[in-house]
Amino acid sequence: MNAADMPVDARILAALRRSGENGVSGEGLAQSLGISRAAVWARIEELRKLGYDIAASPHHGYRLLGMPDVLHADDLLARLPQDRIIGRDIRVFQETTSTSDVADKLARDGVKEGVVVFAESQTKGRGRLGRQWVSPSGKGLWFSVLLRPQLRPQEATQMTVAAAVAVSRALQAHTGIVVAIKWPNDLLVRGKKIAGILTELAADPDQVKHLIVGIGIDVNLALSDLSAELRPIATSLRIELERPVDRAALAAQVLKELDVEYRRVCQRQFPAVADEWEARCTTLGSRVAVNIGPRTVEGIAESLDDDGALLLRTEHGRIERIIGGDVTVKKPEH
Ligand code: BTN
Repeated sequence: MNAADMPVDARILAALRRSGENGVSGEGLAQSLGISRAAVWARIEELRKLGYDIAASPHHGYRLLGMPDVLHADDLLARLPQDRIIGRDIRVFQETTSTSDVADKLARDGVKEGVVVFAESQTKGRGRLGRQWVSPSGKGLWFSVLLRPQLRPQEATQMTVAAAVAVSRALQAHTGIVVAIKWPNDLLVRGKKIAGILTELAADPDQVKHLIVGIGIDVNLALSDLSAELRPIATSLRIELERPVDRAALAAQVLKELDVEYRRVCQRQFPAVADEWEARCTTLGSRVAVNIGPRTVEGIAESLDDDGALLLRTEHGRIERIIGGDVTVKKPEH
């Protein structure tokens, strides 16, 4: 997206963020946006109503003093680089059933790849294997990305793996916390789940039509937001850091990293993605049990193959190729 194609509010917020303490004059904003000073003032008033704390003074012009903890599409657009695919279009809903339902509808309506759908809360958030995904309002990042990669259906796991690398890198860079990956798509902090990825696809027999990568990140959930059942196995950044995290800044960082990883997948650089995945993955080298429907396969998780499938060495020395299922890491036997 060109700067000139960005919505006016996105351009105002980008200019305010760039000018920082120095501020930016109404005249300067009006000129760069090609609108009147009165129109700038009206937009500033609207942003204030949304909770943006914008000071105005004859000396400094406008200065951004504080931002609300809300996801605002224009604010997210303003934080992203211009030549991106992921996040070229961003839509934010207060509430949806599932952001993946909305993204799927957009896909079927022919919307271009790269659109990202966020919701402050989901009433029917879904996880892998038909599980429910708890998505309380304003506490997390619940979003889905529509992609149209040139991949065969069996290569779609590559994008789940790439997304796990991107989310793990962004969370770690933003907070300093070590975030490990459990195959194929769980992100763990101190062994507890902090984020998950659900990739859904529509495909012809030999070509993906579109992929919906749904990502849920537990950002500012308190312990009281987690049920007794989830407490031993789930956590949030806020619980780990003992302070709240800026969701909009984190969202922008995750989208930037996703864009980097998506380009690597499209440019057939999956081996490099897989290397990074392996470095961050705690599953590899461990004895694991994988439940695939009624069947359980046990073995040592050895590596990923070129499509992102997990290669397990069973006790008979055979390699089993796993493309889906629920992995439990077994404690070493003494
Ligand atoms: C998992 O670990 O089981 C995957 C969880 C994926 C949750 C996200 S939240 C945004 C998107 N919308 C959904 O309904 N699910 C995904």
